[in-house]
Amino acid sequence: MTEARHTPRVFSGIQPSGGLTLGNYLGAMKRFVDMQDDGSETLYCMVDLHAITVWQDPAKLARATRELCAGYLASGLDPARSILFNQSQVPEHAQLAWIFNCVARMGWMQRMTQFKDKAGKNAQNASLGLFAYPALMAADILAYHATHVPVGEDQKQHLELTRDIAAKFNHDYEVDFFPLTEPVIEGAATRVMSLRDGSKKMSKSDPSDMSRINLTDDADTIAKKIRKAKTDPEPLPAEVEELEGRPEARNLVNIYAALSAQSVEQVMRDCGGKPFSEFKPMLADLAVETLAPISSEMARLMQDEAEIDRILAEGAARARAIATPILRETFKIVGMVGA
Ligand code: AMP
Ligand code: TRP
Repeated sequence: MTEARHTPRVFSGIQPSGGLTLGNYLGAMKRFVDMQDDGSETLYCMVDLHAITVWQDPAKLARATRELCAGYLASGLDPARSILFNQSQVPEHAQLAWIFNCVARMGWMQRMTQFKDKAGKNAQNASLGLFAYPALMAADILAYHATHVPVGEDQKQHLELTRDIAAKFNHDYEVDFFPLTEPVIEGAATRVMSLRDGSKKMSKSDPSDMSRINLTDDADTIAKKIRKAKTDPEPLPAEVEELEGRPEARNLVNIYAALSAQSVEQVMRDCGGKPFSEFKPMLADLAVETLAPISSEMARLMQDEAEIDRILAEGAARARAIATPILRETFKIVGMVGA
């Protein structure tokens, strides 16, 4: 139903809040590129307003934003085909977020697990922005009437909230204005786990650098991290079902599958029965082969900040051209004089 009335449009975002990990690449960026190459209209954002919901050093934030843009480009996003921009340069996001702050309910926000995780024990001391974060995310998406949002598994709850906000707005104002966006959570690597603990997500904020592969790691570092990755003593099984209860083995197989664009079944067919002493070097070679060109291209692009800034400015102008009439219509629906 959504697709019939709204032009298919893809939106997603990543926070410029530190280095990019293999989790970001496989769970998000690689899939952003696939969707661009499918021929969909695609917008990909560096969500700097989301990043400052926790403290960011200003100089580091600026660098991380440009580095994320370089990462997008190095992964294969093409500014001629995808709109690439940073969130703060399109004021419609923050404006629509305010409307959504007045649509979303406190109780909905209180259920968000990412807030609970990030706020930790001292929730009273978390920023108000961290609490309101999912309403801004809904605004990112709905300012473009985006219909499809590729993300990793951890964003599922936020996308359900986005649908709830759209539905409540449509209901309260008796309109059929915002689409009910579809999350696109697909592939073998929607949840890449820590290399040190198969029950924890691979994350740029994990204190242990050995837990993750960064897109900027060199070949030796990548190989070392995979060699030292936690595993159990058994060799890989022949059947996918036998990975049950072996989270670390499962994680390495998922990563292998996603990097080689194969199904987990195919990987098991080729690698089942191999001990980790054999499988890990294969995985390391594959990871280096995929990531080395991305990290060297990122380093090259970072030499020319003016070019990155130019791409972002052009992307913001194109994004605004879509978001402005949608925001104006929203204001009209709400009853704002002058809209
Ligand atoms: P963030 O770095 O939190 O802004 O996340 C940006 C995107 O990367 C989101 O779509 C996340 O779901 C995805 N992502 C982050 N970490 C992982 C992971 N370990 N596995 C899969 N996807 C991830
Ligand atoms: N919340 C997402 C994350 O932490 C980032 C994000 C912000 C996003 N706005 C978005 C993702 C809109 C998809 C669509 O990963």
